[in-house]
Amino acid sequence: MKHPVRLERQSGVAVIAIDNPPVNALSTAVRRGILGALEACLSDERITAIVLAANGRTFPAGADISEFGQPLQQPGLPDLCDLIEASDKPVIAALHGTTLGGGLELAMAAHYRVAHEDTQLGLPEINLGILPGAGGTQRTPRLVGVDAALDLMLSGKPISAQKALEIRLIDGVVGDDLRETVKALAADTDETKPTRDRRDCLADGAHYMSRVSERRRQNDHRFAAKKIIDCVESALLLPFDVGIEVERDAFSECLASRASAGLRHAFFAERRAPKFPELKQASARQVDRVGVIGGGLMGSGIVIACLSAGLPVTLVEEGETGVNAALDRIGEHYKRAVSTGRMTQGQGTSALNYLNLTTEIDALRDADVIIEALPEDMVLKEAVFAKLGRLAKSGAVLASNTSYQNVKDLADAAGRKTDVVAMHFFAPAHRMKLVEIGVTEDTDATAVVTAHSLAKALGKIPVRATAQPALLGNRILQGYRKVADRLLLSGATPAQIDTAMRDFGMPLGPYEAQDLSGLDVSWALRRRNTDWPAPLDLELADRMCEAGWTGQKAGQGYYVYPDGRRTGEPNPDMLKMLADERADKERSVFAFTGQDIRDRLLCSMINTGAQLLEEGVASCASDIDVVMLHGFGFPREKGGPMHQADALTPHHVARLIEGLAEVDPDLWSLSPLLSKLATERQKFEQL
Ligand code: 3HC
Repeated sequence: MKHPVRLERQSGVAVIAIDNPPVNALSTAVRRGILGALEACLSDERITAIVLAANGRTFPAGADISEFGQPLQQPGLPDLCDLIEASDKPVIAALHGTTLGGGLELAMAAHYRVAHEDTQLGLPEINLGILPGAGGTQRTPRLVGVDAALDLMLSGKPISAQKALEIRLIDGVVGDDLRETVKALAADTDETKPTRDRRDCLADGAHYMSRVSERRRQNDHRFAAKKIIDCVESALLLPFDVGIEVERDAFSECLASRASAGLRHAFFAERRAPKFPELKQASARQVDRVGVIGGGLMGSGIVIACLSAGLPVTLVEEGETGVNAALDRIGEHYKRAVSTGRMTQGQGTSALNYLNLTTEIDALRDADVIIEALPEDMVLKEAVFAKLGRLAKSGAVLASNTSYQNVKDLADAAGRKTDVVAMHFFAPAHRMKLVEIGVTEDTDATAVVTAHSLAKALGKIPVRATAQPALLGNRILQGYRKVADRLLLSGATPAQIDTAMRDFGMPLGPYEAQDLSGLDVSWALRRRNTDWPAPLDLELADRMCEAGWTGQKAGQGYYVYPDGRRTGEPNPDMLKMLADERADKERSVFAFTGQDIRDRLLCSMINTGAQLLEEGVASCASDIDVVMLHGFGFPREKGGPMHQADALTPHHVARLIEGLAEVDPDLWSLSPLLSKLATERQKFEQL
């Protein structure tokens, strides 16, 4: 095995070079390597200065996250930082790439830091529900002051090398030849190292304490944020070594928290999802032009995503009215981007220059990927795919943004089964990061990989699914809404259900969400298609649509929105309609707590997720989590429904569902996979 740390000597300067691709994470082997190299340097009288650097694309991007949760192997990163700081030979860190987390902490322990001008530096631990645990909470405020330190640690966002120089996080920035420049600097040092006054940050203690109190008053609900503020306060009030002890305890508490487990799960799940098996079988075709059919809300969002990624687009709309409406929608986006300073006028104009808007479907002849984004009308879609089958160039990928229809039928209509996939975006498509790619048994690996590479080029996270109506997310959503409707029929109100789910961490409850997106969309689907989505067993939504209460845009839905307000009050007419339906159906009414509601809705997501795995629609449980995190706003610190199932244990979830099935046997049917995991006391992550 290649050694992950190399030691080179050149006259009096030693270079310790970390070499652990892809991101030089500070794994046990790397830490051991650095320790060995440091000890060798310190005991070698010929060496007068040490350069700490990294090969490949970056200085370490942090501790090795995959080692978290396992017993800590020596040497720990904090000890390594102490050893560097205590070295009587000057240590200069040469930074490049993404110098993050433990990587930056290692650099802060060095006596000087010089970065390449393109370096990004940051302390993103908060994104994983933890805090800098190798002295970062104590060294950062001493180096850059409390304000900048709290900004770095609480935002988790990286800063540029130039900004890092301004706040004195680093000592120098260089253009080219970082390693040689730093080696020359090291050769020039007069063998003295700066002694760091560890009380530096107490210089303006009263001011800094007020900043700490201010951050505390902002009441950041994240556990790790509270702990970071506590640690920075300790840096102000306590000697360094005691502050380090405070940090160590806080780090352990954060690492053991459920939020950190959920966030770390999300980190790896997002990176696992795009690893489609087809990537080993085929290479993507070049995509020089994308075609989009339908410039409604979804189609326009897809067009904007492509234009913003610098991809030329041909958008086909019906008639002059359709063309003008689409142009207004897309133009409005760029106008707003310019007026809010997110884009210059020139950038906005040049993005629009890549757009060819037409009513002629023939204009799609030269497109490499064509995405149909029409309303969910199968007759219309099949007619379009039949045309595409005839006119699209050989090898073009024919994709449908459908969330409900069977892509196999579209492939049949096109007569080019190998070229057809689903590419299901989430609204607004230019902002939401998720794209479900639905693959039929006939889809060619090259078509899959090309759709995947387009999704990546648009900055999206592609998740693979076997092409089935509703793919992953909408299958789960349908079960979720069904269970919510049953709760309504059995005595809960929309407001109770929405509040319970917001308390769980969802951005909106199911009924607020329907009011926002419009009840008429799924009403139209239900009327058009008797098979899918399955008819509701609560008639309330249909009755509401018949009455014209289609949600926010109509001024009333499950809530009323007087004077165009965006937050509503419960709709008394809807509650009367609901009470009438309960009475007609002679339903008994029960009182539900928020926990009852959350248990049922979470169990529904987990049970449908398990069914999707059984059916082979989802490749792995963590893919389902990525879909729920990025498509439906499932709270990230909870990791996703399947991660929640593992945290609660499948055994516990199965017992809950069995209990629910006793009361509502027509609604609940325990997934055999979930039942098996429960019996064998296994978890989804072990599948
Ligand atoms: N530990 C382990 N693996 C890591 C890692 C880390 N810190 N950072 C990235 N990786 C892995 C990824 O899982 C991925 O693996 P894969 O190829 O098997 O899927 C590979 O490195 C490449 O990562 P990305 O796909 O994310 O590559 P990008 O180029 O898009 O992004 C990055 C690079 C900006 C470094 C991004 O990976 C990132 O943000 N990493 C996390 C950084 C971080 O959170 N650091 C703090 C860690 S916690 C810490 O340091 C605690 C300390 O205070 C004690």
